[in-house]
Amino acid sequence: MATKIIDERYDTMQYNRCGNSGLKLSALSLGLWHNFGDGEAYNNAEQLIYTAFNLGITHFDLANNYGPPPGSAEKTFGRILKNGMKKYRDEMVISTKAGYLMWPGPYGEWGSRKNLLSSLDQSLSRMGLDYVDIFYSHRFDPETPLEETMGALTTAVQQGKALYVGISSYQPEDASRAIKILKGLGIRCLIHQPSYSIMNRWVEAGLLDLLEEKGVGAIAFCPLAQGLLTSRYLNGIPADSRAAKPGIFLKREGITEELVGKVKRLNTLAEQRGQTLAQMALSWILKDNRITSVLIGASRVSQLEENVKALDNCIFTQSELNAIDAAIE
Ligand SMILES: NC(=O)c1ccc[n+]([C@@H]2O[C@H](COP(=O)([O-])OP(=O)(O)OC[C@H]3O[C@@H](n4cnc5c(N)ncnc54)[C@H](OP(=O)(O)O)[C@@H]3O)[C@@H](O)[C@H]2O)c1
Repeated sequence: MATKIIDERYDTMQYNRCGNSGLKLSALSLGLWHNFGDGEAYNNAEQLIYTAFNLGITHFDLANNYGPPPGSAEKTFGRILKNGMKKYRDEMVISTKAGYLMWPGPYGEWGSRKNLLSSLDQSLSRMGLDYVDIFYSHRFDPETPLEETMGALTTAVQQGKALYVGISSYQPEDASRAIKILKGLGIRCLIHQPSYSIMNRWVEAGLLDLLEEKGVGAIAFCPLAQGLLTSRYLNGIPADSRAAKPGIFLKREGITEELVGKVKRLNTLAEQRGQTLAQMALSWILKDNRITSVLIGASRVSQLEENVKALDNCIFTQSELNAIDAAIE
């Protein structure tokens, strides 16, 4: 059932240098947090990967705990690789992470050397890979010395199990220390993965400036606010949407009338720019050249096809930016 990989796959995508490193990432990356777990149709998951790759998306982002159940997204991805995508391994940047709960007992989460290195071995085994391109510390651990967490990332590179390392959701002061410690260990912090969207702008208070100054890339997760910044919820909550499914992150109760009012105002602004709301939400992030890539999720192929067109217009006038700010007040 796997689609054919097309020769034109690099014709329209944009590739951005990740900080001061030698690695470029596609301006859009695909995350496997949702839609790749055990309860999802394998064929759809496979189609998503093939379509993304045919659209020029080279970067696929995973974590040990993606599913549900935890680990199942990596297994699905491993199956897709085994069933045909593995021959494109050198054209793909595959990341995984450790830090959230994976197994019982004191070593199944957080930032110890014990957790990170065992978890990476498990991830490689689930995906059927010898190495990942990027291995992340998924979250800052206030109890483990940062030297130990960064030391474990360094070991992963020295063992040949990761080509690069990154950090996710670290606050600016912790990120600054992590970057410095890695540098002292002779390893570049390739990338930081924070949440960022029109509705969630915490990274603008220092983090993006820090990353630019240190030559570290930035990949924005949940750029569509899990689907809120799309046409998904303009007229109610569709039965097949993330908010309608069981899950703890985007809940039905969270889609309030007030929020939908803001989304509708943003949708009007997107239409005036000749974009869909999803496209405007992505181009709004990509307008900033400190951002290497936007890390989207998708439940169907048509969403990917729509979203890559965000690249057609990443320039905003000041009055458009002001109107976007006013729409979410
Ligand atoms: N580092 C971290 O701690 C962390 C945390 C969270 C996520 N992430 C990463 O970020 C990735 C993306 O997260 P996310 O899935 O929440 O991102 P998102 O891009 O904000 O939301 C994706 C969801 O929006 C909907 N959507 C996408 N395009 C659409 C379109 N054109 N029209 C209508 N609906 C559309 C789909 O939901 P429906 O299912 O409703 O169709 C899709 O699953 C994850 O897979 C993961 O790799 C990292």
